[in-house]
Amino acid sequence: MIVRKTRAELEKMRRSGLLVYEILQALGRMVEEGISTWDLEVAAVKMMADAGAKPAFKGYYVPAAGERYKYVLCTSINEEIVHGMPNPKRILKGGDIVSIDTGVSLEGYFGDSALTVPVGAVSEQTQKLLDVTRESLELAIEQVREGNRLFDICGTVEEHVVKNGFSIVREYVGHGIGTQLHEEPQVPNYVDRKNENPRLREGMVLAIEPMVNAGRPEAKVLKDKWTAVAKDGSYSAHFEHCVAVTPEGPWVLTRP
Ligand code: MF3
Ligand code: CO
Repeated sequence: MIVRKTRAELEKMRRSGLLVYEILQALGRMVEEGISTWDLEVAAVKMMADAGAKPAFKGYYVPAAGERYKYVLCTSINEEIVHGMPNPKRILKGGDIVSIDTGVSLEGYFGDSALTVPVGAVSEQTQKLLDVTRESLELAIEQVREGNRLFDICGTVEEHVVKNGFSIVREYVGHGIGTQLHEEPQVPNYVDRKNENPRLREGMVLAIEPMVNAGRPEAKVLKDKWTAVAKDGSYSAHFEHCVAVTPEGPWVLTRP
């Protein structure tokens, strides 16, 4: 069942969304050669505490890992797709890309967003990977309208990524969001004809999160049980926003 939110509920999700935005912007500004992903985690923990927000990821049980996640951020470097774990020994260096993914809840309503940041100068091909992944999210956001269907979102991401010669990760998908971090429906970044294709209705909120590999699409999970990486070692980018369906069109809750 897809839970639709009232205006008042969307306003609550908006508060979480803007906090996530502020945190990600601050972390993005911290990114430079020589800092560790643990430095980012420490800063995020403090910002959440200062705002009186609950971290959405810390303590979240993921069946595939068989345990609860231990951090407030996922920090995924280079070939890491998602669920990389903050670590004082992981020092960023020039030419890296780092995906920072986080979520919070305020008054029981969740916000969830991610971005991928270059460390210093990156190669032209890596910059294109970031650009195309971000563009695919922006194009998909435009599809979040009453009367459209879920596949309009999925297909828009897929088309833009494939057209530009990159590949869509299939093992991880976006999701509905509200009083739970993950709600129905799943939001794959490709058209999955085995799935239902619900019509988009006012009050639905979708976390759209393209995960795009520069090389082959296949993912594998490292022995740490969490870190998903591109099997071929190619770089991977990830951007995410929560978007509400409103009569006025798409409302991106996770940015001003
Ligand atoms: N980043 C995932 C998402 O955007 C959720 C993180 S799973 C967790 O949906 F275990 F890290 F919390
Ligand atoms: Co998400």
